[in-house]
Amino acid sequence: MEMQALKLKTRELKPGFGAEILDVDLTTAEPETLDQVVQAFHRHGAILLRKQDMTPERILSFISLFGEPEDHTQTQFTLPGYPKIYILSNRVVDGKPIGAHNDGVGWHTDYSYKAEPVMSTMLYAVEVPEEGSDTMLADCCAAYDALTDEEKAKLDGLVLHHSYQHFMATREFLRGELTEQQKLENPDVFHPLIRTHPADGRKALWVSTGTVKGIEGMETEKALALVDELVDFVTQEKFVFRHKWQVGDILMWDNRCTLHTGTLYDDKKYFRQMYRMWVKGDRPY
Ligand code: SIN
Repeated sequence: MEMQALKLKTRELKPGFGAEILDVDLTTAEPETLDQVVQAFHRHGAILLRKQDMTPERILSFISLFGEPEDHTQTQFTLPGYPKIYILSNRVVDGKPIGAHNDGVGWHTDYSYKAEPVMSTMLYAVEVPEEGSDTMLADCCAAYDALTDEEKAKLDGLVLHHSYQHFMATREFLRGELTEQQKLENPDVFHPLIRTHPADGRKALWVSTGTVKGIEGMETEKALALVDELVDFVTQEKFVFRHKWQVGDILMWDNRCTLHTGTLYDDKKYFRQMYRMWVKGDRPY
């Protein structure tokens, strides 16, 4: 993508990473402004827009500017009539949870259990607790750049084994057994530990928890110890942006160069409801 000078008013989410886009109302923004918002996303790895008044239709039209929206695996938690909009929530209506609760707690990158993980994740805040439930993003390119040449050489070429079945079996917040169909649709996949960003060639230390079952050719215990060590490295405070939610916030990040995690909140005292959308991605290399 050709990068033009941005006319948008922005401020960094943290030095060298992410951008809050100021003074843009997505309900009235001109196509040229929207184009610049998309460019800001590709340039900064994450964008934040506050005080947005989004209907499901507006969300779908906005997310489509970034690519084709992706389906969700746990289809029972999508917004009725909107299969591309997934609900994260602790609300129960008529005895049934309306969304996935604490779905994204633990450092990960979305859809890593697929051959083509999602390029981007967008969250839209519908209802937020007064405290807790922050979302944190880690800049995996900054983490890679901070490795020594020796460490880079040691890690380059390592391949992570990702497994949806492993992920679901080890979840703290259980969501029940996988159906045979879900197992069939989600076979194990293998992705590079050091990922190259297709747009600009930057390298990311693209480690993850959750779906990672091991490292190809390495004994499991040793592999998982290395994965833990690398996740700790990537998620040091200096590489992390912590977002405190307000209703109407849109936070969107590039999964090819970030890790993210949700955080817990007092779910007996507060309700949280977020819409999560995904944009299709390609095979990591
Ligand atoms: C996610 O990981 O998809 C959601 C994170 C959050 O709920 O803050």
